Amino acid sequence: DDSLRAAARGSGVRIGTAVDMSALAADTPYREGVAREFDTVTPENVMKWEAVEPQPGVYDWAAADRLVDFARQNGQLVRGHTLVWHSQNPAWLTEATYTPAQLRTILRNHIFAEMGHFKGRIWAWDVANEVFNEDGTLRDTIWLRALGPGYIADAFRWAHQADPKALLFLNDYNNEGINAKSDAYFALVKQLRAQGVPVHGYGMQGHLAVHYGFPDTVLENVRRFDKLGLKTAFTEVDVRMQLPTDSAKVQAQAEGFGSLLRACLLVKHCVSYTVWGFTDKYSWVPGVFEGEGSATPADENFQVKPAWNTLRDTF
Ligand code: XIL
Repeated sequence: DDSLRAAARGSGVRIGTAVDMSALAADTPYREGVAREFDTVTPENVMKWEAVEPQPGVYDWAAADRLVDFARQNGQLVRGHTLVWHSQNPAWLTEATYTPAQLRTILRNHIFAEMGHFKGRIWAWDVANEVFNEDGTLRDTIWLRALGPGYIADAFRWAHQADPKALLFLNDYNNEGINAKSDAYFALVKQLRAQGVPVHGYGMQGHLAVHYGFPDTVLENVRRFDKLGLKTAFTEVDVRMQLPTDSAKVQAQAEGFGSLLRACLLVKHCVSYTVWGFTDKYSWVPGVFEGEGSATPADENFQVKPAWNTLRDTF
């Protein structure tokens, strides 16, 4: 068995992938790859608020349920993604329509509805996604404006009430190394814990780019959260490049994937490493970053790149 899953066995770190539900339904090699290679799955989109509550009070769990069932059949754990975010919220959710008091109730109900629906079936939840700006100030979102900074603590408290066994994570990008953003997370985590707020994990998305280079303080950063007794996870790793690809970029990409996994393996409580797609056939990168792509460890034809072998060898 030369799967990533087999390589990860015994390491204490679970290997995961984001899953595109249309691809899972339509593409057999894709479906077999998800089942064979990974210990955990994260819904790329179908647990986001706009997907699960398209109209107020009208829930649609169908696609998310299919993923949870798939995971169960394949002996996989699920990372829930995500409950409180500024993006991919339903169009009906606006400050023009609701008072702050109503928004607070709406957020609370959302957390209880979604976590309640999946109770006992989600290993770890990204409760709050991308709450900080690069400079470490809180991001200006509907939640911050309406509810103030306490919305984060509230969200974690509600989440813990809704599903007491789920691990509850903060999650963000550009927070892998030591910088103003990760410093802000470090301070936030200490403050939340001092207040008795149930926060269990620090998630680093890991969206890297070959042309920007890679943060060189990842281990130092992961270690400081680890020392607090917090679990850590790499939650959305991909390493994009400017197209066309060449062998230098592809080698650099392998280093990027490997460096994050190495940091994860070198601390005690890093529990998972998730790639944001395992084949370029379904990567979000070309649609969002113009002229960039080839961000996952396998190409459009499921042929593995050096990054794939680096992941396997690093475990
Ligand atoms: C992305 C998905 O991959 C895309 O399909 C979607 O159009 C937009 O969102 N950070 C996150 C993820 O936390 O939810 C985002 O996923 C990528 C960046």
